[in-house]
Amino acid sequence: MRRGSIVQLVAIGVVCGAGAAAVALLIPWLPHAASKQAGRIDFVFWFVTTICIVIFALVAAVIIYSIFKFRAKPGDDEDGSPIHGNTKLEIVWTAVPAILVTAISIVSAIVLTKNDHLPHASAASDPLQPLVVNVTAQQFAWSFKYPAFGNLASARLELPVDAPVKLQITSVDVTHSFWVPEFGQKQDAVPGSVNTLAITPDRMGSFPVICTELCGLGHALMRSTAIVMPRDKFLSWAKGQQQKLGGSGGSAGLAVFKAQSCSSCHTFVPAGATAKIGPDLDKLPAEAQRAGQPLEQFIHESIVNPNAYVEPGYPKNIMPTIFAQLPKAQLDALVKFLASGGKQ
Ligand code: CUA
Repeated sequence: MRRGSIVQLVAIGVVCGAGAAAVALLIPWLPHAASKQAGRIDFVFWFVTTICIVIFALVAAVIIYSIFKFRAKPGDDEDGSPIHGNTKLEIVWTAVPAILVTAISIVSAIVLTKNDHLPHASAASDPLQPLVVNVTAQQFAWSFKYPAFGNLASARLELPVDAPVKLQITSVDVTHSFWVPEFGQKQDAVPGSVNTLAITPDRMGSFPVICTELCGLGHALMRSTAIVMPRDKFLSWAKGQQQKLGGSGGSAGLAVFKAQSCSSCHTFVPAGATAKIGPDLDKLPAEAQRAGQPLEQFIHESIVNPNAYVEPGYPKNIMPTIFAQLPKAQLDALVKFLASGGKQ
């Protein structure tokens, strides 16, 4: 092969490789990773992408060079000269991909194993080694419970930074799927079984929790928020919530109202809530009258069995039935808080 041809091949390869690398690097294809697991997955992604760019540059260079170098002259309709193949070349183009695919398999296997690994809960004194969170999915809401903190329930996934977290995910109705893009992994929520997911958040901030399995009419609305905070802040949040929710009276009711994110759908002036997806909770007495029930009984039923009476003008099956699982004390506090018009 002439020296000039090699220079041309290399030049075309460099241009094609640079173009492919620009597409890979200049477009933000991946969410900004916020967990150790996502960082490892991104590593595999870039490992494979780099190999792909090199192979692409090589193949594109040979094709483009050949198209110009070996094209038929006008009027030339002869067959090409017969060739018997090239054993050396065939060995090389079989061996190189085999080595690359094996390397990708090994790297992926190491990452998968590491991403599933959690410290054994031997250090029983430390509730963050790992922090266990029970995740329950239901049409169309998420709820998060913290067994190490008196089964504290929250509508948002609050997590400490740099601590291993074990999510135990299940569903009470149909199949859903838990996904925080910045954490890098998905896990199905299947009724009747518990699937685990290991997460070690390593960046603070708020990230969306998304249902990523088509689960019904409200699928697109089935969202929550994961909040990653410093360890101390998490511990004081968890202990503070435990105290507030465990108390009685209006302040416990307000705490439950906030923890369950009632304000994302309802208006309730005493709690500073202004959303309009569900009925206005400032008008509960009038609604109870329309339903023909005593106020407290009406509120209780509307929380645990929301489809029993649906306020005219609002669709059925939108209010999640997940709140029926609230601990009794929290449920009672919430009912009292709403019935009293938000008295603390
Ligand atoms: Cu739950 Cu989609």
